[in-house]
Amino acid sequence: MRILVVGKGGREHALVTALHESPSETELFAFPGSDAIHTLARPVEADSLASLASFMQREQIDLCVAGEESYLIKEEGLAAACAAICVPCWGPPKESAQLEASKDFAKRFMLRHGIPTAAYERVTNYEEALAAITAYPTVLKFDGLAAGKGVAICHDASTAEAFLREVFVERRFGPGDLLVEECLSGPEISIFAAVSDGDYQIFAPARDYKRIRDNDEGPNTGGMGAVSCRQGMVSTELLEEIERTVVAPTILGLQADGLPYRGFLYFGLMLTSAGPKVLEYNCRFGDPEAQAVLPLVKGDFARYVESGARGKLDRSLIQFSPEWSVCVILAAAGYPDQVQTGDIIHGLDRTSGVRVYHAGTRKDEDGNYLTQGGRVLAVVAQGTTREEAVTQAHQEASKIHFDGCQRRTDIGRLHF
Ligand code: AMP
Ligand code: GLY
Repeated sequence: MRILVVGKGGREHALVTALHESPSETELFAFPGSDAIHTLARPVEADSLASLASFMQREQIDLCVAGEESYLIKEEGLAAACAAICVPCWGPPKESAQLEASKDFAKRFMLRHGIPTAAYERVTNYEEALAAITAYPTVLKFDGLAAGKGVAICHDASTAEAFLREVFVERRFGPGDLLVEECLSGPEISIFAAVSDGDYQIFAPARDYKRIRDNDEGPNTGGMGAVSCRQGMVSTELLEEIERTVVAPTILGLQADGLPYRGFLYFGLMLTSAGPKVLEYNCRFGDPEAQAVLPLVKGDFARYVESGARGKLDRSLIQFSPEWSVCVILAAAGYPDQVQTGDIIHGLDRTSGVRVYHAGTRKDEDGNYLTQGGRVLAVVAQGTTREEAVTQAHQEASKIHFDGCQRRTDIGRLHF
């Protein structure tokens, strides 16, 4: 099977690795990929979806796997580009990817289908926003691309007004509306499902650690690590409740609205005292959750994804390991702000018993890997107990060094 994976980060390195380890014979390609990904997948160059589609046609690609979300909504969307040349695509079409791209679209979808989420009001200017805030704390969300900086949890009027000025006066994020949301509280958990039309299969629940420093302190990042376990993260009863109140109604809602969906769907949930509520949908796997979850998937992942992309999820092709999996991120100096790059990474050859996925690295002429992004590496370990996986991941991660390396020491330990 000739498979193209789209994306370049740690999640895509994990996807390419899982496809490579599948027993089916695969020939892998990556667009754009990275030096580390290119050790397993041939690099593809393209400057538009049209040229990527020409490549797929020329090279007789059998399956296209979307890693990151941007290509889903770019131009006509990756899925439509694939459909036009009859290549099965694992990743939803642009109209369905609005679930991630537009917070207002996602909210209206949830309201329509009775899926629990925070109450909200959509506002278009500063005055309307102030009028919509009825209590503190309140959550203000810019409805558009904001590089992870578009959400503010405001505990008082002065912080709310400061954020509203950024959105509506300074237009820091560009044009766009705002959602004023009820502030929920409770532990957060991510659920991942493989979806193929009306069918779905839940993978393993995971927790990611968004803050830069231990004890969930400091600014938000793309994720400093993750922990996952098929059974141990949430009780069977709670998982059943999540499936009944959130996952199943979402899949039925997509069907009812005529929104085709084949790909991973990510539910960001808050476990409130009134039950699980959806904070957000993402139309892809999480990063770094994919790095923790995918090593737990056994069997023929490549044929499984192909079966889903063709419209019939074949559950018999994969099994889930009952182990715990912990992913520890090594981030560059300065992350999540101004990032320092170009530092030599030492110790990659000293780790054992773990997987090391590359999120932001490049190789120099001498064959050394250098830092090349905010999140640099993901060190991932499995264990029969949580403690075993945590200890192994941190112990091996500590063998890798580069100038200014940042690593949380409580990943996997801090329960929620
Ligand atoms: P989002 O981009 O919508 O996932 O929001 C980013 C983060 O903000 C979430 O992971 C939560 O920690 C927090 N958050 C978002 N919405 C709410 C809410 N309604 N109540 C409390 N916290 C929230
Ligand atoms: N881990 C958060 C995300 O992938 O969006």
